[in-house]
Amino acid sequence: MYLAWLVFVILLPDWSAGAEPKIVYKATNIECIGNPKRAVNLSCIIKAINWNKAVAQMDCDLVVPLRNFSIQLEVFKKGYSNQYHPFLVNVTFNACDILAKRSFLPYGTIMWRTVKEFSNVNHPCPIENHLYARNLSIDENMLPVLPLGIYMFSLRITDVSPKGLSEYVGVIKFYFQAMEMIRIKKNIN
Ligand SMILES: *[C@@H]1O[C@H](CO)[C@@H](O)[C@H](O)[C@H]1NC(C)=O
Ligand SMILES: *[C@@H]1O[C@H](CO)[C@@H](O)[C@H](O)[C@H]1NC(C)=O
Ligand SMILES: *[C@@H]1O[C@H](CO)[C@@H](O)[C@H](O)[C@H]1NC(C)=O
Ligand SMILES: *[C@@H]1O[C@H](CO)[C@@H](O)[C@H](O)[C@H]1NC(C)=O
Repeated sequence: MYLAWLVFVILLPDWSAGAEPKIVYKATNIECIGNPKRAVNLSCIIKAINWNKAVAQMDCDLVVPLRNFSIQLEVFKKGYSNQYHPFLVNVTFNACDILAKRSFLPYGTIMWRTVKEFSNVNHPCPIENHLYARNLSIDENMLPVLPLGIYMFSLRITDVSPKGLSEYVGVIKFYFQAMEMIRIKKNIN
């Protein structure tokens, strides 16, 4: 599945035109909201590294382990009126299946590769105790080229008990800007 995605990305015309400015996805803000019965001590911050890159640091303590959780990913794009409008993606997937490699849905797999690299959520469920992500950023090479603009990825996390009761755990809203890479001309000396 990853290979299919890679081929798709390579075939996009924007990528073959070497003279085109490179598009980068720079994180601009992050919001984390938790259900206090499930997730506490939330801290989510964005730190700018340079003109083109910012990283996220996230921390959270789970009150109850995540045993069978799903993630609803909705993508929004900011319009001229400064409001966010739904943008193409609205999918729900079982995250434990992705972590256990029982499912290879493209959006889930991309997110899993990112999470595995930057966080301690790098093992099968249950997910418990302290969760963190360090220096998390979006790898442009993993996503298709998006039109320039401001986007919000909303990740809504729900856990389903063996009795089939689903409980809201929290939401992460990740804002980023698809922009042309800023090249700083070095004319020192
Ligand atoms: C939240 O943080 C406080 C202070 O560090 C700590 O005592 C508490 O155990 C944490 N809560 C959870 C559920 O880990
Ligand atoms: C995504 O789908 C869910 C369930 O079908 C729906 O409730 C929600 O409003 C949709 N979100 C957007 C942004 O369209
Ligand atoms: C995060 O980035 C900073 C600055 O680049 C670096 O000093 C630190 O070691 C990184 N932390 C991790 C856990 O990779
Ligand atoms: C896990 O959650 C899914 C819904 O996302 C549900 O269909 C399934 O029965 C649950 N499995 C267990 C073992 O609770």
